[in-house]
Amino acid sequence: MDKLRIVGGNRLGGEVRISGAKNSALPILASTLLSSGVMRIGNLPHLHDITTMLELLGCMGVEVAINEDMSVEIDCRNVHSQVAPYDLVRTMRASILVLGPLLARYGVAEVSLPGGCAIGSRPVDLHLRGMEAMGAHIDVVDGYIKARAPEGGLKGANIFLDTVTVTGTENILMAAVLAKGTTVIENAAREPEVVDLANCLIAMGAKIRGAGTDTLVVEGVEQLNGAEFRVLPDRIETGTYLVAAGVTGGCVKTKDTDPLLLEAVLHKLEEAGAVITTGDDWIKLDMEGRRPKAVNVRTAPHPAFPTDMQAQFVVLNAVAEGTGTVIETVFENRFMHAQELVRMGADIHVEGNTAVVTGKEGLTGAPVMATDLRASASLVLAALVATGSTDVNRIYHIDRGYECIEEKFQQLGANIRRVSGR
Ligand code: EPU
Repeated sequence: MDKLRIVGGNRLGGEVRISGAKNSALPILASTLLSSGVMRIGNLPHLHDITTMLELLGCMGVEVAINEDMSVEIDCRNVHSQVAPYDLVRTMRASILVLGPLLARYGVAEVSLPGGCAIGSRPVDLHLRGMEAMGAHIDVVDGYIKARAPEGGLKGANIFLDTVTVTGTENILMAAVLAKGTTVIENAAREPEVVDLANCLIAMGAKIRGAGTDTLVVEGVEQLNGAEFRVLPDRIETGTYLVAAGVTGGCVKTKDTDPLLLEAVLHKLEEAGAVITTGDDWIKLDMEGRRPKAVNVRTAPHPAFPTDMQAQFVVLNAVAEGTGTVIETVFENRFMHAQELVRMGADIHVEGNTAVVTGKEGLTGAPVMATDLRASASLVLAALVATGSTDVNRIYHIDRGYECIEEKFQQLGANIRRVSGR
């Protein structure tokens, strides 16, 4: 199994290109199942999860071609199966995103029920309740969600989501665009990735109002057409490189991104003492060789501070001046990185959903591993600032969400390489 070997201590500097957003690309790829024409999707990141989604679509009969400009052409006109098998779903929970489109377009879907996950139990009850409200009949049999639309197809409904859920909102939205009548989704997620999906569906001919607010109003249409769409930049990848600059006292410009996507994160970075400058499609962070100041962070749905940046800010606090409190309100078990960071010398006390982090002048290299994507990224950040060498194990998590991570960090002056190992 590959690992990343990192020798810390280099101050990062230079420019890095930000890839398309994984969490936008996944629902957009799933949404192609709704199209009666050919879809052309640009700015897809080269990531394991994207390959898995394409594989999943492929086993349903979807034809995928890659163009010279690396955009992907997707033809869903010959779909012959509405099944998302266990072997693929167990490697990627986001496979659940095919449920809504399959049910809306074909009236049936069989999707393996995703199990628990390293960051929490992550049920999908709200996805299912939303589809039931639209008239679907749903059973869980042999570990599979077996869903069937009523005679004549899904019907518009008023749906209130008890908890703000990103993929839940996306799944219900994709089901609603072909339903008969109007669907109102209240307490909808406002994440930029939900807005991106809505914009892609609108480009295909869907009628959606309210994207980016907590109420989505969808008027069902007869069919959706082919369209061309470009995935938005990855705000979490952007934030991760900015924190990397911050913890190493460096100066990094992230390109092909959008400062409006991560205002809460930029705010916290400024509070930590970073000098942030922005343009339409770039963000520069200059730490001017200083240590960051500790900040208090509380995760919550967008536009508040994103849970996917929580682990990176634990590292920022671990090397900062002072003590910072990090509160996780979205997932119940998302501090798995804390104990690994303690092994690198960090001073972190976790109680319930709160981590109290007291900054140290330095961390020390150690072999570490993590059980989820963002936790793994936080270990890379810690390794970049630690003295000595760190092996970050189980990097298949990182490959799910960060395109060419070692090349990008090398470009910024980091001493990082991938080594094959057991
Ligand atoms: N929840 C329920 N019932 C549901 C759905 C969600 O109780 O039916 C709960 C979850 O257990 C959780 C909370 O609602 O406590 C929010 O979860 P949400 O459904 O919003 O998470 P998700 O849609 O499964 C997406 C991202 C995650 C990101 C979260 C929160 C994708 C593919 N995944 O997950 O990204 O952390 O939203 O912003 O979009 C990552 O990229 O590393 C990652 C984990």
